[in-house]
Amino acid sequence: MPKVHFIKEEKTIEVNSLTPLWDIKDIKWVEEPNCGGQGRCQKCKCIINGEEKFSCLEKVYKDDLEIETKTAS
Ligand code: FES
Repeated sequence: MPKVHFIKEEKTIEVNSLTPLWDIKDIKWVEEPNCGGQGRCQKCKCIINGEEKFSCLEKVYKDDLEIETKTAS
């Protein structure tokens, strides 16, 4: 299973492949209000393996990920 390491939260979680990031519930992905995961509001931006992406649109595939969220934790 791929591992997802959260830099700010200092947490590493193993998840199944094809898990949407937002299914990882113990991470705060967005500050309210947001578009509810439609990819429109840009409030869920985070850095995934060095690239800025919208967390609501991303999944874990087979590789490990390192994620820096932009929410206050
Ligand atoms: S929650 Fe709005 S773009 Fe991801």
